[in-house]
Amino acid sequence: MRRSSESGSGLLGSPRRKSSPSRGHISEMLHALPHTSAGFRCLVIFLVCIILVYIASTSFGFSTKNSMGSMARSKVQDNEESGPDAMYHMRQRISTLEDELESLKHSLLATAGETKNFDDVKYRNEETRKRILVTGGAGFVGSHLVDKLMRDGHEVIALDNYFTGRRKNVEHWIGHPNFELVHHDVVMPYFVEVDQIYHLASPASPPHYMYNPVKTIKTNTLGTINMLGLAKRVKATVLLASTSEIYGDPEVHPQPETYWGHVNTIGPRSCYDEGKRVAESLMVAYNKQEKVNIRIARIFNTFGSRMHMNDGRVVSNFIIQAIQGKPITIYGNGEQTRSFQYVDDLVDGLIALMNSNYSMPVNLGNPEEYTIKQFAEVIRDLVESKSEIVMKDAVEDDPKQRKPNITVAAQKIGWKPKISMRDGLMKTIDYFRDEIQKNKKRSIRDDEI
Ligand SMILES: *[C@@H]1O[C@H](CO)[C@@H](O)[C@H](O)[C@H]1NC(C)=O
Ligand SMILES: *[C@@H]1O[C@H](CO)[C@@H](O)[C@H](O)[C@H]1NC(C)=O
Repeated sequence: MRRSSESGSGLLGSPRRKSSPSRGHISEMLHALPHTSAGFRCLVIFLVCIILVYIASTSFGFSTKNSMGSMARSKVQDNEESGPDAMYHMRQRISTLEDELESLKHSLLATAGETKNFDDVKYRNEETRKRILVTGGAGFVGSHLVDKLMRDGHEVIALDNYFTGRRKNVEHWIGHPNFELVHHDVVMPYFVEVDQIYHLASPASPPHYMYNPVKTIKTNTLGTINMLGLAKRVKATVLLASTSEIYGDPEVHPQPETYWGHVNTIGPRSCYDEGKRVAESLMVAYNKQEKVNIRIARIFNTFGSRMHMNDGRVVSNFIIQAIQGKPITIYGNGEQTRSFQYVDDLVDGLIALMNSNYSMPVNLGNPEEYTIKQFAEVIRDLVESKSEIVMKDAVEDDPKQRKPNITVAAQKIGWKPKISMRDGLMKTIDYFRDEIQKNKKRSIRDDEI
């Protein structure tokens, strides 16, 4: 991009530099012309016209080659003109062309991203600035993590295969010198020099991870091996985004990190649950055997902007149903409980964990507990919707209760969630309202086409 803009401005700059002095010189000559005989004056004007046409055709000759339509057209018109008005028109034409060049130059620079407005990033020197790889960096959590690390002044490489991640989640950083977006699947090895690796790559919502269970298992096993191998080679610290799903349908409540879980190895969720359990085992094995620096975050339910609209999660489902005035559907009797953390809290926790010295698993979640039914009601109230709440049959292996014990996070990394569920929900509802509005506009446009 940068190269093209340089050559672009050179291309447009050089004829301008050539033409301006000649133009100034010629007009001076004309003004300085003494009131000699009319015939002589006509002759001079005629000669000047020829010179100007020559200058115009050589200076702007590239325009025909580059098929810049409007310029080519003006040149043709110029050539057709003749008579005593020609001089005046010629000068007008030249200044119009100069204006056009100026605006073309501006639009070229703009498309080259030189005028893109980035969020402010903190200045860091070589010593405190880290190179950080975020796998799944264009995803829901990954993109929020990228935002925070970028604003903090680090160099960030976001890796994504775009299965559930989206370019638009990070497009506001594309072109920033500290940022790199890489289209890559962690199932294949990836080599890069980095200080830290946040390994977030994996589909994380049931419909997404159940869509291709074999791929989900590969991502969590091969992908984790690849990232641990990379961490070993470049001596980076690697943080695994594990999950509360490793506790399965828990018999201990709330779940501390010491609880081993209650997981069905052959259920519909096993591709994800067992994938993450193996990933944790891999982390510990690489730590013990290869001395890789590891961090394990067990992430509980998280919500916020950039969640997928239709990924079947409770929060997004309820909010969308409420906004659209459709019935809010609960699977089961609604007495199963959930606790939800806002994505900004989670990102703070991930960074605090990475920069701590604690290598055992840490729960990151909000222990504020609600039944699904209470949750549906809170969302309906916040949206000011009239949707009714309807119950449907329970889903297989849907855990009845899940709530983190976050004592370890508080003691070992000094973290606890700060954003209340209501505040988080308000922000998320605003995001979904916006998205639904955009989709509406898009579908209207498509209809017109
Ligand atoms: C880990 O960090 C804490 C303070 O953040 C410190 O008290 C503790 O000694 C450190 N432990 C090790 C093993 O370095
Ligand atoms: C949370 O876990 C800690 C140990 O990590 C334990 O002392 C505490 O009682 C637990 N809290 C609850 C509410 O179960």
